[in-house]
Amino acid sequence: MEQLLFLKNSVKNFYRVGAVMPSSRFLSKRMARATHGAETIIELGAGTGAITKELLKILPLQGRLTILEINPDFVSFLEKNFQDKRMVYYAKSAEFLPKIFGKNSAAAIVSSLPFGNFSRQRTEKILSGVVDCLKPNGVFVQFQYSLKSWRTLKKIFRQVDICFEPRNLWPAFIYICRK
Ligand SMILES: C[S@@+](CC[C@H](N)C(=O)[O-])C[C@H]1O[C@@H](n2cnc3c(N)ncnc32)[C@H](O)[C@@H]1O
Repeated sequence: MEQLLFLKNSVKNFYRVGAVMPSSRFLSKRMARATHGAETIIELGAGTGAITKELLKILPLQGRLTILEINPDFVSFLEKNFQDKRMVYYAKSAEFLPKIFGKNSAAAIVSSLPFGNFSRQRTEKILSGVVDCLKPNGVFVQFQYSLKSWRTLKKIFRQVDICFEPRNLWPAFIYICRK
């Protein structure tokens, strides 16, 4: 069901969805684990919730997970399937991040935005909002099928670690970045 919805939206607009299948549980778990201990998490581009599900497993009871997802079909799906008091949804683009959150307000931001399909200017605009909204020493976690954004991330963040998850369609690099 969720795979079908994902594929349908991918065929409609691959540029925006950036994948043909939701992230595997292996990739999703590794992304979520990098936020360990964070109480205020923002997820950019939640899709059908593969990573969201793993984030909720480790989010403290008093924590808050805010979703920014541009695709209204995905937002409706998430609202129906993830009824959790710790979650807040915005059917909005990641560019709105600094309008929704104050500076230094999030302990972790997790993104699966398809930066590989975005222009450099657009990617940099979103990343600048990410840095503003992260707390000092906050973590930004992003996956990508190539290392296209590595240089840009290294310029912006104090520390950038990379790992590789082969058990995903397609195998993906995970950037774990510290403000
Ligand atoms: C590669 S999919 C990942 C979906 C899901 N997180 C997963 O891992 O299976 C990228 C997601 O980013 C969303 N997206 C693309 N551009 C966006 C933007 N500017 N703001 C918010 N979400 C966006 C897409 O609709 C899609 O759900």
